[in-house]
Amino acid sequence: KKSKTKDGTTATSDKGSIEAALNEAYTKYKDLKEGKNADYIPELAKVPSEQFAIVIVTTDGQVFSKGDIDALFSIQSISKVITLARNIEDHGAQAIQDKIGVDPTGEKFNSAVIVENKKGKEINPLVNAGAIASTSMIKGKDYNEKWNTIMQVHNDFAGRQLAVNDPVYKSEAATNQHNQALASLMNSFERMYFDPPQSVDIYTKQCAINVNTKDLAQMAATFANGGTNPVTKKKVVSPQTVAHTLPVMATCGLYDDSGIWFYNVGLPAKSGVGGGIIAVVPGQYGIAAFSPRLDEAGNSVRAQKAITDIVNKLNLNPY
Ligand code: DON
Repeated sequence: KKSKTKDGTTATSDKGSIEAALNEAYTKYKDLKEGKNADYIPELAKVPSEQFAIVIVTTDGQVFSKGDIDALFSIQSISKVITLARNIEDHGAQAIQDKIGVDPTGEKFNSAVIVENKKGKEINPLVNAGAIASTSMIKGKDYNEKWNTIMQVHNDFAGRQLAVNDPVYKSEAATNQHNQALASLMNSFERMYFDPPQSVDIYTKQCAINVNTKDLAQMAATFANGGTNPVTKKKVVSPQTVAHTLPVMATCGLYDDSGIWFYNVGLPAKSGVGGGIIAVVPGQYGIAAFSPRLDEAGNSVRAQKAITDIVNKLNLNPY
């Protein structure tokens, strides 16, 4: 498959080039030890730091992979874009803009200052305060209905039945007082849409969903494919929902480093403190990489580098 990029050059996207780009990035960063595992969730500190995997899923359903592709890890903040997409699909784009906000904060992902400063308004569904509000907005009359919807949409994006990593869920549930405080503060400004403690619990469970790197790439490829999973062919969300989800990823996906990422890569992406990152090349690919060691902002060091190299090598930056 070949396509023209905006500057008129040809995007090299044949099988051989994709494999070469994956191999090159993998070899180059395999032994890089920069950064460290998240440890504010005790269970995440125990994940083997040397694990490294990269997967590309094309919008015609082909899968290219390299590294520890069977390794399971918790999805963490990448779940925020899946929940956001479900909410846009069910409530419409305007409701998210009004009830949560879609502006980048420029602050750390778990900032409480951003909530206080703007009285819970004009934040976004990809930082913790906005994400907990987003979880609270998920359709359903009670905890179970909301949880089932969240699990289902994650399964649909991944194209298989996923499961919760129970030790990670319990570990975070026992140590998430800061997120509980964020939900309380949001609630004080009437920006929560379901019982705050239960919403935090559903959010914590959602972050503990176990995935492998191929699951993440298939999620990204579903976004790249206008909301239809390219492997299972299931229509998960509409193209209009995707068109509103990807810009939030582009502006807020890597927290306070979102600008640096977009400056260098030009693609919507989302990271999680479990070490995963997804990037979306609309119409072409979902790219995912996994490596547990994170930088200061909470983004995987090797995953950022590997995706950046692949995007440059295959000429996928649309700008
Ligand atoms: O709420 C938290 O802190 C985690 N469950 C998720 C944070 C996260 O993944 C931020 N990522 N870079």
